[in-house]
Amino acid sequence: MNIASRFNVLPDDRQTVQFTLDGEIVTAKQGISLAAALLAQSGTASRQTVNGAGRTAFCMMGVCFDCMVNVDGVPNTQACMVTVRDGMRVTRQIGLRPLEGSNDV
Ligand code: FES
Repeated sequence: MNIASRFNVLPDDRQTVQFTLDGEIVTAKQGISLAAALLAQSGTASRQTVNGAGRTAFCMMGVCFDCMVNVDGVPNTQACMVTVRDGMRVTRQIGLRPLEGSNDV
């Protein structure tokens, strides 16, 4: 599930950080949002709805919830509201996560 990104990152001299996306190492500029790093990395979806529709960051300001990913084991993390950092483990979120205390899957 990887297509070329349509986003170009402008050159800058900031240091880089590395994190993993579904187990693959990704390099990003320090200080940018995780959503921006994901958009620059891949033009494909960062999550799928319960119906299998692809979604990725849209508003970049915490409103649309289309950027939700799992970060370091925490599901439903809004990637646009998190600054990328070294060692972060990110996985695409597929479908719904179970609610706490629920037996629903
Ligand atoms: S891009 Fe809309 S909430 Fe993150």
